[in-house]
Amino acid sequence: MTQDEQKQAVAQAAADYVARHLPVGGLLGVGTGSTANLFIAALAPLKARIGGAVASSEATRARLEALGIPLVDLNAIERLALYVDGADEITPQLAMTKGGGGALTREKIVAQAADTFVCIADASKAVPMLGKFPLPVEVIPMAAGQVARQLALLGGKPKPRTDFTTDNGNVILDVCGLVIENPQMLETRINQIPGVVTNGLFALRGADVLLLGSETGVRTVARAP
Ligand code: A5P
Repeated sequence: MTQDEQKQAVAQAAADYVARHLPVGGLLGVGTGSTANLFIAALAPLKARIGGAVASSEATRARLEALGIPLVDLNAIERLALYVDGADEITPQLAMTKGGGGALTREKIVAQAADTFVCIADASKAVPMLGKFPLPVEVIPMAAGQVARQLALLGGKPKPRTDFTTDNGNVILDVCGLVIENPQMLETRINQIPGVVTNGLFALRGADVLLLGSETGVRTVARAP
């Protein structure tokens, strides 16, 4: 299968997962990006099952709305049964880098509220160690210069994402060159820099299940207990 065919296959596998695991009337969190967009399209036949969805970005909100899936305000609920989203990189331990599409902060908020995080990814996203994909860091605009200096002290080469503002009105620094041997520790460390809203490491709350594309089909990987 090509990369696009793998994205389609994992999106359909995630919709099947929703059909099997989401209780009727259950609440679903929906991610952002090209793979998540295919997942949203695959949700059409399941509309009646979904009690409500929380969107991880304005783009996803618009797609869910167009499909007629009821949107839910995260402040109005306690927990979501499932969250489905893509990743830019994912390790065998199911730690991820996310935020290539710039929606990392809302994605992390929605993921945190979910009982189960299902990651959908084509084979190119599976890596032994995170760090080749530049790490996105969402930053309050007035702090961008200061945060960039701190990230350089951690060994990174931060580059402001040009012509891009997040749904939250902030900027993104894409950081190359980080050696991410301990993603949980680095996630915590970067989030402590004043001015950082969040960073794209999803290790403290990684995925629970990975639906991974391959040339021959979709493989299900569960996080080790
Ligand atoms: C969006 O901000 C990201 O976290 C995406 O989930 C990630 O970039 C994967 O996107 P694709 O499915 O488009 O590769």
